[in-house]
Amino acid sequence: MVSKLLINGGRKLGGEVKVQGSKNSTLPILAATLLTEDECVLYNCPKLSDVDATIRILRYLGCRANRVDSTLIVNTQDMKRSDIPHDLMREMRSSIIFLGVLIARCGRAKMSLPGGCELGPRPIDLHLSALRQMGIEISEEHGELECVVNDSIKPLKIALSFPSVGATENIMLTAVKCKGTTIITNAAKEPEIEDLADFLNCCGAKISGAGDSTIVIEGVDKLHGCAHSIIPDRIVAATLMSAAACTSSKITLDGVIQSHLSAITPIFEEAGCEISCKDSKLTIDAPYRLRSPKLIRTMPYPGFPTDAQAPVMAMSCKSHGLTVFVENIFESRYKHIDELNRLGANIKVEGKVALVDGVRHLSGANVRALDLRGAASLVVAGLCAQGNTQVSGVKYLERGYDEFEAVLSNLGADIKKI
Ligand code: EPZ
Repeated sequence: MVSKLLINGGRKLGGEVKVQGSKNSTLPILAATLLTEDECVLYNCPKLSDVDATIRILRYLGCRANRVDSTLIVNTQDMKRSDIPHDLMREMRSSIIFLGVLIARCGRAKMSLPGGCELGPRPIDLHLSALRQMGIEISEEHGELECVVNDSIKPLKIALSFPSVGATENIMLTAVKCKGTTIITNAAKEPEIEDLADFLNCCGAKISGAGDSTIVIEGVDKLHGCAHSIIPDRIVAATLMSAAACTSSKITLDGVIQSHLSAITPIFEEAGCEISCKDSKLTIDAPYRLRSPKLIRTMPYPGFPTDAQAPVMAMSCKSHGLTVFVENIFESRYKHIDELNRLGANIKVEGKVALVDGVRHLSGANVRALDLRGAASLVVAGLCAQGNTQVSGVKYLERGYDEFEAVLSNLGADIKKI
C-alpha cells in the first residue's frame, strides 16, 4: 500500500524534540560488527528502512541481529556466508560498506555492483583501487564484484583523490585487523567516520586521526565486542531547523552535538534566526520573515553537507531575496526543485547551480518525492505552504527519518500519513 503524507501548512511549531541517532553512523557500524565474533550492543539506533535493510543483510549472512526499541544487539558468531544477493544490494547502494568487512572476516566477498541511485551514478572506483592496492583481487563481471585475498591483506599508505566517506570507511574496516600500519591521507572527516573509529577502538582497534584528514590504523589480531551509543543525526537536526525557520517558529532540539552543525547554524543565523545552545540542546527562534542566505555551496565536511541542501533549500523558498546553491558533491541532487516550484517556489537550475528567488507565499499542492532528502525538503515546504500539500514517495522519507510525521505533529504540525 503506497502511503502519502497530508500536510495542512501554515501552522507554527513549538516545543522540544529528541534528535534521532545518525543513519550514516549506524549503517557502517552495523557492518563493522562482522569484525568480531563477540556480541555488540548499539544504543540510539534510529528505526529506519535503511537500518532494517542492513539488518536483513546481517541475518542473510548468518548473524543474529535484534532490536529492542532503539537498541540493536548483534552477534556475528554464526556467520556462514560471504556474499550479498542482488536484491539486497539493489535495495540500498550503501551496502558497499560490507565489502571491506567481508574480505577482512572471510578472505573473500561477492556482491553485485551497487549501480546508480536517485542521486546519479554512485561510482566505487576509489574503494576498488584502494582494496586492490591492499592485495585483494577484485573481478567485475556481469555487474558482479568477486573479491579474494590471495595470500594476505597488505597495509597501505594511500592518498584519496577525493575525501570519499564510503571509501574511507571501507579502507578503515579492511585495515583494522591487517598486520602493519595503514595510513589514509585526504580522508573524509565526517563525524560518522569518527563515530565508526570510536566504535572500532572500543572493540580493541588502534585507529587514530579519525575526523581529521590523516587516519592511521595499526593492525590488531582480534577485536572483542562492545557497547556503543550512536551519535545524533546532524542532517535530521538541520531538517528540523529548516521546518522551524520556515514556519516562523521557536523549537528546541535535544541531543545535538553543536560542532557537527558548525557549517549549518551560520546559515540560519544569516537568515535571521536566533540560535542558542546549552549542552546538548539547541534552540532556534525564527523571525516572521527570513532573510535569504546569500550562498550555500555543498562541500566535504566540515563544509556545508550535501544531505542538508534539499531541506535547507525548502526553507530558502520563502525567504526575502535570492539564495544561490552550488551542489558540488552529487551530480543530480536537484530532483526536488520541480516539485518545490509546483508549491509556488521560484527556483531556476543552471547545471550544479540553483537560484532560489524567495517568494512571499507557497501554496499547497500534490508533490512527489524522488529521493530521501528531496522527500524531507517537500515536507518542510508543505509545513509552510498555505493549504493542503500531499507528498507521495513516503518510502524515501522512511529511509532516513524515524517516525518523522509523529515528530512533526508532536511539535504542532497538522500532518498525517494516509
Ligand atoms: C555518504 O555516501 C552518505 N551515505 C551520503 O548520505 C552522503 O551524501 C555522502 O556520504 C557525502 O557526505 C552514507 O554514509 C550511507 P562519498 P557515500 O563516497 O559514501 C563520488 C544520505 O542522504 N565517489 O563521499 O556514497 C560520489 O559519486 C546519503 O544520507 C566517486 O567518484 O559518499 C559522490 O559524487 C546520500 N568514487 C562523491 O564522491 C568513489 O569511489 C561523494 O561520495 C566514491 C565516491
